[in-house]
Amino acid sequence: MYLKTFLPRGEILMEFRKVIEGRRSIRQFLPDPVPREDIMDMLRLATQAASASNRQMWRFYVVTDGEKIAAMRDAVVSETARVRSLAGKPAETDPFAVVFAGAPVTIAVACAAYASRTRAILEQAGLDKEEVASRIQRPDIQSVAAAIQILLCAAHEKGYGTCWMSAPMIARPQIEAVLGVPEGEALCALVALGRPDGLPPKTPRRPVEEVTRFID
Ligand SMILES: Cc1cc2nc3c(=O)[nH]c(=O)nc-3n(C[C@H](O)[C@H](O)[C@H](O)COP(=O)(O)O)c2cc1C
Repeated sequence: MYLKTFLPRGEILMEFRKVIEGRRSIRQFLPDPVPREDIMDMLRLATQAASASNRQMWRFYVVTDGEKIAAMRDAVVSETARVRSLAGKPAETDPFAVVFAGAPVTIAVACAAYASRTRAILEQAGLDKEEVASRIQRPDIQSVAAAIQILLCAAHEKGYGTCWMSAPMIARPQIEAVLGVPEGEALCALVALGRPDGLPPKTPRRPVEEVTRFID
């Protein structure tokens, strides 16, 4: 009944499949700016994601200021060099960690603090920190990740390319300082956004049968 009301034509469902199957990570961008209305529309869709207790912990920082983007890239490069030297390794930055610096827009995605009720109960029950964490499994980060996946698909549907990036989090405190992320929020990922410069091939997937078990 619900589907009949809101999806009267089969082709809408087809479009959904096309968006999911056609999306891929883009790491080369054209310099064309992305209109603010398009960004807001994508983010509005992203905020339709499911979230634990509907707490909507996602926070978005849309960065188009080239100097700020360069400062974030510099933070990743210098923090990578510092950490690698502590590990006795030469200072070199994985190009996959600075993809965002080549995009006209970076959307930094943060997670607001979330006090789960289950956590409180587990703590009161006397479970240690590690055990509590393993029984909760970060519903806050799961919620933010759900929103990021929708954001990527919404961008793809509009002809934009994206790259979801966690590697820059090596410089999380420094990037948070550049963006002025307040206390009580933690940066989770960067999403590079812009018109794609070329279309890379689709990355392969494990067959669904391989990753699925029916427990009948
Ligand atoms: C949580 C997460 C973190 C990722 N971090 C990076 C990253 O730091 N740099 C990068 O170039 N790609 C990153 N990716 C993109 C993956 O490499 C990519 O999604 C994967 O290879 C599948 O390719 P596809 O997105 O084209 O389907 C990340 C993806 C996810 C979901």
